[in-house]
Amino acid sequence: MHHPAVPGPVVKAPGGFRVPAHSVTTRNLGAAYPLVAEAGHGHRGVLVGHDLLGGSFVFDPFELYRDGVVSNPNMIVFGQIGRGKSALLKTYLWRQSVFGRRAWVVDPKGEYSRLAELWGVAPVALRPGGSVRLNPLDPVRTASQPEAGGVSEDPARRQGELLASLASACLGRPLAPRERAAVELALGAVRANARVPTVPGVAAALLDPSDDEAARIKTDRASLLEDGRDVALELRRLVHGDLRGMFDGETTPGLDLSGPLVVLDLSALYSSAALGVLMACATAWLQAAVSRSSGQAFLVVDEAWAILANLGVARWLQASWKLSRAHGVANVAALHRLSDLTAVGAAGSEQVGLAEGLLSDSETLVIYAQPPGEVAKAADLLSLSSTEVELVPQLRRGVALWKVGRRSFLVRHVVGSEERALVDTDAAMVTW
Ligand SMILES: Nc1ncnc2c1ncn2[C@@H]1O[C@H](COP(=O)(O)OP(=O)(O)OP(=O)(O)O)[C@@H](O)[C@H]1O
Ligand SMILES: [Mg+2]
Repeated sequence: MHHPAVPGPVVKAPGGFRVPAHSVTTRNLGAAYPLVAEAGHGHRGVLVGHDLLGGSFVFDPFELYRDGVVSNPNMIVFGQIGRGKSALLKTYLWRQSVFGRRAWVVDPKGEYSRLAELWGVAPVALRPGGSVRLNPLDPVRTASQPEAGGVSEDPARRQGELLASLASACLGRPLAPRERAAVELALGAVRANARVPTVPGVAAALLDPSDDEAARIKTDRASLLEDGRDVALELRRLVHGDLRGMFDGETTPGLDLSGPLVVLDLSALYSSAALGVLMACATAWLQAAVSRSSGQAFLVVDEAWAILANLGVARWLQASWKLSRAHGVANVAALHRLSDLTAVGAAGSEQVGLAEGLLSDSETLVIYAQPPGEVAKAADLLSLSSTEVELVPQLRRGVALWKVGRRSFLVRHVVGSEERALVDTDAAMVTW
């Protein structure tokens, strides 16, 4: 019989899809892999590919959330380089477009341009000194619930948290309480004066506090200035350093966000040390923009490991995942290794908490092949069965273990012939 990780011959199915032929019954496979032998979870949603235990696999996080199968629509896709994470995301978004769902993509490698072209939109390319500027402090629309998952949705607080995490990413350490207070006061001063706060505005306010602000925390102006100086200098890196011209002012007017797809192409800085901060700024801006739009949407952060490499920014990302649920947004992150979740910063309970938090906020996990050691380490965290631990390292390109709520599926992602151009990131074509 065929091992499910090594699917049988491929046959041409209607609609141009090439699907693996089955030479064993579901029942047989079920006996061989009891813990992944589940009947499909319904037929509403977009076709992903083949459930290797039989039938097709469809998936729609919004439907599953509505039906109570998952308690959030967020998803994380794990997989070694070249396993098919981005291919899945691109075709999935494309197939979702039929249902009128919108998508917002943080694209660090500049590989979503074909998708954008098909969808009739131009990617927004960010580069130092380029023509597009995004303000990560753009206000988030407040959802009807003031609290989502225990996270405050007060726009000022969100902006304060983002600024603090960006500053701590640049400083390479968490902010001290007096630094946080200085940030909050500076942000308050800017908000009182300007229409929309900006990073240079806050940096300038940090370097020029008023007596009134100082009095509010029972200190004097000189001490408050001293408290905020390091943060101000680090925030200035966003204004003058690698990321200059990208996040250091109000958002470029006239950016068309009305299309069904918005792609932020960050490839100009893909190999920069500032990639994590860049992605955090881009994601912050997208989240604010998504919150002001209507309808269900996907917010995809490809190569999200770059954000998670920094604990402060990662924590902010996790908090904002909770909020977007209130806005009808399904967050999707792609990571290389299971340990991307646990290996951020120094070891300790904080990292474990972060990983657990992100996982509990992502009830759909798509796990492509991982080295055996990785899988074994993450087994508890991801509630993988011993069968699954054995199976994951053997999965071929395009085949993944899907954990949807409490259920597991083994799915071969099917790429239609007309979708090839969308997903091809290899120089050498492979025969499937
Ligand atoms: N299900 C599939 N069917 C056919 N081809 C696929 C499938 N999945 C991936 N590929 C091909 O494999 C190559 C690598 O896929 P992809 O770019 O999605 O990998 P990735 O996991 O995102 O890698 P990276 O970590 O480098 O970003 C692409 O050229 C794509 O065409
Ligand atoms: Mg990829």
